[in-house]
Amino acid sequence: MRTVAYVSRQAVGRVTPGLREAGLIEYIGNYPAIAQVVVQAMLEAGFVVREVTQPSGSADALVLGHGLAGTYSDSHTGALAALSAQAGQLATKGGTVILLQDTGGRFQPADERAWRGGLAGLARTATQEFPLATIRLIDVDFAGLGTRPAADRLVEELLSGGNAACVGLNAKGRLVPDEHPAFFPPNQTAQLTSSDTLLVTGGARGVTADCIIELAARTKAGFILLGRSEITPWPQGLPQTNDEKELRGLLARQASAEGRKVKPADLNRDARALLSGAEIRATLSAIEQAGGRALYLPTDVADPAALKSAVDQATQLFGPITGLVHGAGVLADKLIAEKTSEQVARVFAPKIDGLAALLSVLDTSTLKTIAFFSSVSARYGNAGQADYAMANEILNRMACWLKASHPQAGVTSINWGPWDGGMVDDGLRAKFAEMGVPLIPRDAGARIFADAVMAGSKCPVELIVGAGIAHD
Ligand SMILES: NC(=O)c1ccc[n+]([C@@H]2O[C@H](COP(=O)([O-])OP(=O)(O)OC[C@H]3O[C@@H](n4cnc5c(N)ncnc54)[C@H](OP(=O)(O)O)[C@@H]3O)[C@@H](O)[C@H]2O)c1
Repeated sequence: MRTVAYVSRQAVGRVTPGLREAGLIEYIGNYPAIAQVVVQAMLEAGFVVREVTQPSGSADALVLGHGLAGTYSDSHTGALAALSAQAGQLATKGGTVILLQDTGGRFQPADERAWRGGLAGLARTATQEFPLATIRLIDVDFAGLGTRPAADRLVEELLSGGNAACVGLNAKGRLVPDEHPAFFPPNQTAQLTSSDTLLVTGGARGVTADCIIELAARTKAGFILLGRSEITPWPQGLPQTNDEKELRGLLARQASAEGRKVKPADLNRDARALLSGAEIRATLSAIEQAGGRALYLPTDVADPAALKSAVDQATQLFGPITGLVHGAGVLADKLIAEKTSEQVARVFAPKIDGLAALLSVLDTSTLKTIAFFSSVSARYGNAGQADYAMANEILNRMACWLKASHPQAGVTSINWGPWDGGMVDDGLRAKFAEMGVPLIPRDAGARIFADAVMAGSKCPVELIVGAGIAHD
């Protein structure tokens, strides 16, 4: 188990590879006032740079300023679209890409700029997908330093920072992330008791459910579980099974015995709904057997009105919410070259639109614990997961902001490696086996989660947990 500190480090004193010799550098970003100043500062330093609205295909290097202002949606989709447009060239010829963001230049944002903090996930993923290219993420405190001084600091970094992958520039200096082993004291209680109520997105199914069952055993608290699925009842007479293929066969035979014609797509949908319903019922019962109280409310966490109504209902039935576990997530893997804005929106919906909705309906000052399910994709990148890496990296930065504003609370964002369960299906399991990546056993992962939450305010904000890095 590891954590990340942001440490002061001097620049190596070498220009970023590919920038000096670039015949043309293109600056792209949505904010003309900032763009003009950055371009001017770069021209004065002798770079051949011009501002464009999208990559022309003839530049050797890009500077992407989407993360310097604006909403999380514009910042992340804009930068990803620009990289996607340049993907062919980056894959075959390499080149240089500088991704810019402003979350305060410290990686531990103390204000709402945290929402723009996901571009390190994109940079790390791009580094994996384009091994010939130099990709850097530079977080500059434009808001704090002022636009021209910030642009000057950026230019200085381009001239001296070499290929440092991830750098923060602020009034106090230059910071880089530095991983080291994480510890927290065992056998803590986090002051969570049977009178607490935790809201858990995605908690009825998958690995979040494993974690919540373990937390229920330790705290006997109440858990409000949210997910989109309905609790579909198991049809009378249909044999019980957890195997989707077997269930499709059983449903097909039942339909044929009743003289009904069913399409394969309908069989798939019905089998999945039955399995989801069974999994939700099993989670509710396991939480109660562990001594906790549990309620499932079918809710799309990305729908603010539905979320508000679920939270109102939950509060009436279980009392005030004193903890939040945000585990909802989906994948839509595709390489950057093929990534569409629809896929990005799908991946951002539960994790980031969901988080925005959660923060708009919850009083965070009353929360004793806040835990996010993030991923090693955010920390190291993962080919095909640019959107997922960005969303999870936003969770990491948002956890820093929440910790800064609620220091007494336990706030942690766990960057999980792959588990032996949940969204790791048989196909992914085989892929990880081929790559020699060990999977986190479900019981061990659940114990680490509960230990982290129980450590309360002593738990590091950023945790990295994988089967290979679980115990060092
Ligand atoms: N499994 C891993 O190896 C792994 C590794 C790293 C990180 N993680 C993270 O851990 C979390 C759990 O993953 P998992 O493997 O357990 O995935 P999973 O089995 O696919 O479960 C995802 C859960 O999220 C819920 N969900 C998705 N969209 C939602 C929405 N819009 N509103 C409410 N609930 C929603 C799903 O319920 P419905 O479908 O009913 O909505 C389901 O309960 C995710 O955030 C994932 O990114 C997992």
